[in-house]
Amino acid sequence: MTEAILLVGGRGTRLRPLTVHTPKPMVPAAGVPFLTHQLARARAAGVEHVVLATSYLAEVFEPYFGDGSDLGLHLEYVTEEEPLGTGGAIRNVASRLHCGPGDPVLVFNGDILTGLDIRALVETHTSSGADVSLHLTKVADPRAFGLVPTDAGGRVTAFLEKPQTPEEIVTDQINAGAYVFDRSVIDTIPAGRPVSVERETFPGLLAEGAHLQGMVDSTYWLDLGTPQAFVRGSADLVLGHAPSPAVPGRRGERLVLDGAEVAPGAKLTGGTAVGAGAVIAEGARVHGSTVLDGAVVGPDAVVRDSLVGAGARIGARTVLEGAVIGDGAVVGEDNELRDGIRVWCGVRLEAGSVRFSSDR
Ligand code: GDD
Ligand code: MG
Repeated sequence: MTEAILLVGGRGTRLRPLTVHTPKPMVPAAGVPFLTHQLARARAAGVEHVVLATSYLAEVFEPYFGDGSDLGLHLEYVTEEEPLGTGGAIRNVASRLHCGPGDPVLVFNGDILTGLDIRALVETHTSSGADVSLHLTKVADPRAFGLVPTDAGGRVTAFLEKPQTPEEIVTDQINAGAYVFDRSVIDTIPAGRPVSVERETFPGLLAEGAHLQGMVDSTYWLDLGTPQAFVRGSADLVLGHAPSPAVPGRRGERLVLDGAEVAPGAKLTGGTAVGAGAVIAEGARVHGSTVLDGAVVGPDAVVRDSLVGAGARIGARTVLEGAVIGDGAVVGEDNELRDGIRVWCGVRLEAGSVRFSSDR
């Protein structure tokens, strides 16, 4: 049975303030920590042993997931003393793998929501005889990703991480953050120092003539690295547009966790998720948004494509559109926050004090 490594040690800087108290993979999407969806999908593809490579806020993973038996998995945790980067993190957990040198090992970035056929990626790897196989996807703007051109047979010809110049944008095909490595290749990554798999390992392997194989598909794919993407991903899980066996309830316009209170005249649409102990007051309209545990959305408030952090309070008639409200923040009544604005954890905004659109 194929084993998997999950890279969950990044600082999640672009996702702040969501990641101030919570590492990115533990921020709830559709009612459960995002990582649950990835673990459940791996399990459904037959993976039984997963090693989590942790670094930032490493201590929160094990108390939640334990030994993994609730998900039918055997989970292990390895924490880096200093962040080792993506390649260093993979190398650092190699001793926990049980498989032999010629066996395939799955590696996943910990912030990808995708319908990838995991078994098909392993089959591509085995049948092509590659050293490493990569899931690839096509995006409209590839600049924030690793560009991976391939030849007619799907063999990778170059790897260009975060291209800086227009000349480097040679393809719209990008690294989708899921790999199959031959175990022996993992053992060749240098140990004990930071290594970027994207900037060092892949280009180095290509220069040595190694066989890197790409598998392109057009399945659902989203990197949840920004607040807008995170909110979108959660809504797509609730709506059933993004596949996961771990959504706690039926797919539809809304997901309301046990212990949440939604007034009869409140309207929840567009894949809105409401966490345990949250309160949505009379007349509030919440669309395509995530309201985390214990948060309060006041009467007649309008919340669209936004995230309301744990324990945060949104005052009556306040409008949020594309906004992120940090844990415990208080936005008084009659405010208007739009266009990617972020309110830091614990901040208090007085009633009627903000009519703000960022110039994003
Ligand atoms: N353990 C550990 N240690 N994990 C890390 C570290 C580290 O030092 N640094 C990053 N990670 C984890 C992150 O938690 C995340 O799950 C994954 O590695 C990728 O890091 P991101 O910070 O999300 O990278 P990115 O989104 O800018 O780019 C990566 O993903 C793209 C696809 O979404 C690259 O792999 C790109 O090539 C790729 O296109
Ligand atoms: Mg990412």
